[in-house]
Amino acid sequence: MTTQTSNSPASAALPTTPSILAEVERGLPNSIERLCDFLRIPSVSTDPAHDADTRRCADWLVTELRALGFTAESAKTIGHPMVLAHHPGAGPAAAARPRVLYYGHYDVQPADPVELWKSPPFEPVIVDGPRGKRVVARGAVDDKGQVMGIVEALRAWHTLAGGPPCPVTLMIEGEEESGSKSLEPFMHAARAKLAADVCIVSDTGMWNIETPAITTRLRGLVYMEFTVHGPSRDLHSGMYGGAVANPINTVARILSDLHDADRRITIPGFYDGVAELSPAVKQQWESLGFSDQAFLGDIGLSKGQGEAGRSTLERTWSRPTCDVNGVFGGYTGKGAKTVIGAHATAKVSFRLVSKQDPVKIAAAFEAFVRARLPEGCTVEFESHGTNPAIEVSESSRFLAAANRGLATVFAKAPLLIGCGGSIPAVGSIQRILGMDSLLIGFGLDDDCVHSPNEKFELECYRNAIRSHAAILGELALLSR
Ligand code: BES
Ligand code: MN
Ligand code: MN
Repeated sequence: MTTQTSNSPASAALPTTPSILAEVERGLPNSIERLCDFLRIPSVSTDPAHDADTRRCADWLVTELRALGFTAESAKTIGHPMVLAHHPGAGPAAAARPRVLYYGHYDVQPADPVELWKSPPFEPVIVDGPRGKRVVARGAVDDKGQVMGIVEALRAWHTLAGGPPCPVTLMIEGEEESGSKSLEPFMHAARAKLAADVCIVSDTGMWNIETPAITTRLRGLVYMEFTVHGPSRDLHSGMYGGAVANPINTVARILSDLHDADRRITIPGFYDGVAELSPAVKQQWESLGFSDQAFLGDIGLSKGQGEAGRSTLERTWSRPTCDVNGVFGGYTGKGAKTVIGAHATAKVSFRLVSKQDPVKIAAAFEAFVRARLPEGCTVEFESHGTNPAIEVSESSRFLAAANRGLATVFAKAPLLIGCGGSIPAVGSIQRILGMDSLLIGFGLDDDCVHSPNEKFELECYRNAIRSHAAILGELALLSR
């Protein structure tokens, strides 16, 4: 084992970064095999038909982590199991170094529409793409490939040094894609076991395949479903049409009222707590050189649409939105059926930013719908989750260490970016453990996250492993 030349006792007997990266390289074919094994388990958390698969997936991870010297368990929760694992770090010096907590999720989105997949979603395949080989399967990038980026980095440390250089805890959840209902109760109960100095979350994206990024803001989410009930049964639309309120017409009307002509949201109080970007952040984002053309071209569009007077990056990273995610009711089969359906449902989600209060927004949305309900109709609401937007510190000694690790791997410094998506755990970690997370992700915009043919570039997988391995080495040079 080669050792670092440094007078700092913290670096005593640490393998050098080049030797760790060489070990990652040597193990890469096996790392790809193991990712494929992980991807073969259909851990769809939202579908009870997959509960046994989800449990099996947690057990699979536990077995992998135990082989790396971790004490690991598939912990029971009110929902799907939580994978919790701990390693005190190799050697006596580890105790003086920062304690690292990793978060990721082993559950995946449903694969539907299955007929649009070019290969079965849970039979991973390695195929050629314009940027080299890629693995295609549900969960490839969100989040199994990224979780394995961490696990395989820990493997390289295990092989070279007998374990990670710092005390390491992993919390890998099984319900991120279905609302994280048991996460907070679990975290409260396991607080002592989760104690750490820094948290690393790998569930976001890079700037592009050559350029790493650290995400410092995530949008929040309010997800509501409502059903309007009208007549007591489906009606002949000739006999009754024009004489009674049609629930689908009513839902359509309510949904179209949600935006004004500038595509701002019209719910009273909705923009309370939304902050304008500071000139410095605005300028930093402008300097990123974001290409609307590339972003939209990839999804077959030539022009974007959103809140008037805002750039695409502002619209997705710093402005709140409202999108209808599904609408149903009436006759949806083939051909015509002249009918007024008795019920209609819409699924509506709001992405939140800054200090917007999710609970207030959910209540304001409910009032907005009720105020537009025709006499005699009733409405039912169901919440699929509320979580606030998150911002994490853009300067800390841990972030500086991560910067150094990423710069070694990519030969360029990471960019600080925002993210339009949500990861509820990051807020829970802030609130319950009092800690900011470093959001270091390796996805690309064209990875088809949540879509058919989800993929992860093998180059991104390799760099994820390399980066986590190098960042651990940098963190080990800090004192606790
Ligand atoms: N990994 C994503 C978040 C994400 C999305 C990061 C896009 C980067 C780009 C995460 O698994 C996710 O899908 N989150 C959900 C949250 C929800 C289910 C509470 C989301 O954003 O819709
Ligand atoms: Mn994810
Ligand atoms: Mn997801």
